[in-house]
Amino acid sequence: MASALLVLNGPNLNLLGIRDPDAYGTASLDTIEREIEEAFPAVDFTFRQDNSEGVLIDHLHAAHEQGVDGVVFNPGGYTHTSVALRDAVDAIDPPTVEVHLSNVHAREDFRRTSRIAPVCVGQMSGFGAAGYHLAVRYLLNRVS
Ligand code: DQA
Repeated sequence: MASALLVLNGPNLNLLGIRDPDAYGTASLDTIEREIEEAFPAVDFTFRQDNSEGVLIDHLHAAHEQGVDGVVFNPGGYTHTSVALRDAVDAIDPPTVEVHLSNVHAREDFRRTSRIAPVCVGQMSGFGAAGYHLAVRYLLNRVS
């Protein structure tokens, strides 16, 4: 059976390509998602992006209910603030990998703290779009 993964992006990541290209690169989210699909043709991906905390939580709950094999999650700015998203990641069964395009540890102090990472299986930070691919690879190795 094909592996099923949710790739979930949080606030402002819909602006990739025009938002701070020095930090986040020039590729749009659509391009990043298409490249993930092309790189892993056997995987059944669900791609979601939302700017609202509650909707992101609903997507995490849905991933649990649908029994997906893993979640690749870039929580954007909510990484550093959201107890509710942390609780949602902690509550669901699918293993979650936190991804950041930029190296959050090399930027402002407030970005060094993640409320989400302690309930994830790991964190990718600073590898640009390749971080999503590495997270997918990890999750596929884990389920196979
Ligand atoms: C980000 C890093 C966060 O600190 C920031 O708020 C974002 C993007 C990243 O992908 O590097 O929105 O998650």
